[in-house]
Amino acid sequence: MNPSAFGVIRAPRSIVFGSGSASAIPEHVASIGGRAAICVDPVLARTAGFRRTQEAMAARGVATELITDIQPELPVDLIHEAADRGRRFRPDVVLGYGGGSSLDLAKLVALLLTHDQPLHEFYGENHVPGPVVPIIAVPTTAGTGSEVTPVAVLTDPAKQLKVGVSSPFLVPHAAIVDPLLTLGAPPAVVAHAGADALVHAVEAATAVRSRHNLTRELPVFVGENDLSRPLALEAARHLVTHLPQATARPEDLRPREGLALGSLLAGIAFGSAGTHLSHAIQYPVGALTGTAHGLGTGLLLPYVLEAILPDATDRLAAIGTALEVRASSQDALAHGAIATIREVMRAIGIPQTLADIGVREADLSRITEMACGVTRLAGNSPVPADAELVGAIVRSAYSGASATDG
Ligand SMILES: NC(=O)c1ccc[n+]([C@@H]2O[C@H](COP(=O)([O-])OP(=O)(O)OC[C@H]3O[C@@H](n4cnc5c(N)ncnc54)[C@H](O)[C@@H]3O)[C@@H](O)[C@H]2O)c1
Ligand SMILES: [Fe+2]
Repeated sequence: MNPSAFGVIRAPRSIVFGSGSASAIPEHVASIGGRAAICVDPVLARTAGFRRTQEAMAARGVATELITDIQPELPVDLIHEAADRGRRFRPDVVLGYGGGSSLDLAKLVALLLTHDQPLHEFYGENHVPGPVVPIIAVPTTAGTGSEVTPVAVLTDPAKQLKVGVSSPFLVPHAAIVDPLLTLGAPPAVVAHAGADALVHAVEAATAVRSRHNLTRELPVFVGENDLSRPLALEAARHLVTHLPQATARPEDLRPREGLALGSLLAGIAFGSAGTHLSHAIQYPVGALTGTAHGLGTGLLLPYVLEAILPDATDRLAAIGTALEVRASSQDALAHGAIATIREVMRAIGIPQTLADIGVREADLSRITEMACGVTRLAGNSPVPADAELVGAIVRSAYSGASATDG
């Protein structure tokens, strides 16, 4: 049989999107049970909006326990401590309210509440043995897509690079995405998270097309497919349209809505398709430079796209069409897509080379080697990601030369 249409989507039971939708949080929580552990970003916990939500939950008879000790990149000890607090409280539901760090903490607390094992036993794909305490995810940044994805990311001092726990069981029960909640996010967070969302969309749309045995358990990330593609392309269109305005006019709600919608769609798309080389290379780059995740993935994306262009022209051309690039040939559409993406990254202040963010020439071979070692991501590349290809991307991203310059 020839390969035919194939698709996988993983998504919450309910996704509610729109300005003002945060007022639906208490109802969603109460529909699951009367005890809610809330992993809430410490900055957001002090806002009038969050206090109103908490009061409305109390009015519905929901008892709450706040977990506000949250740091970016989630150190493993912090997660175990949060889970211990959660365990004493015995919640029916875990609410995550904040950026990706708060949502990922909610996922990991919900996991440990049900499966009381050391976290490292869940690292990687499909190691979560069964359902977890229901999670309700409320993002206050537009970028990670964590409100809909099957993955949570953390740092473990025993590992050189960040690690992920990926399992369909980590997909939240409900996602409530209210763009109004993102209005207070600092400009750098908006730009970096938004850049990462665009990378999620474009990498989901260009991930490898794999053939899977549909009668067996699938990998969490199955590659580009017929269900994720329309969402990824629509996400890229929203993000390219709204990212520059969202960063230039922070008080303007319309572009924030576009960003939140794009980020959400990108999350659903990459939650099954996965991401690839910008993410694989960003793991060692982030560890080396301490720069924000989205800054690194956004910097790397144009170089990755140039390198895969000869083998992924059709898919880059589809992105060009979605971005309304004016060109008649597939080749010109594909080149136009890359140029548009590079221009958006430049407009929102993403640095253009690895040298700009402090990488030294002597670091390049180590970055290449480590990126190739992130097999979950490197293996999702549409072009086999050997040291030659990854090395060429890393060198061109370092110098700013086009990957196709030779
Ligand atoms: N699970 C996934 O699918 C996934 C995907 C990508 C990234 N991540 C993870 O997400 C994390 C990054 O998340 P992020 O970029 O959303 O940021 P974040 O949660 O780390 O927050 C960054 C900063 O922004 C502040 N902040 C967030 N929202 C705010 C608001 N509305 N108003 C004021 N301040 C606000 C926070 O207090 C914090 O200081 C990383 O740890 C990354 O590894 C997860
Ligand atoms: Fe990302």
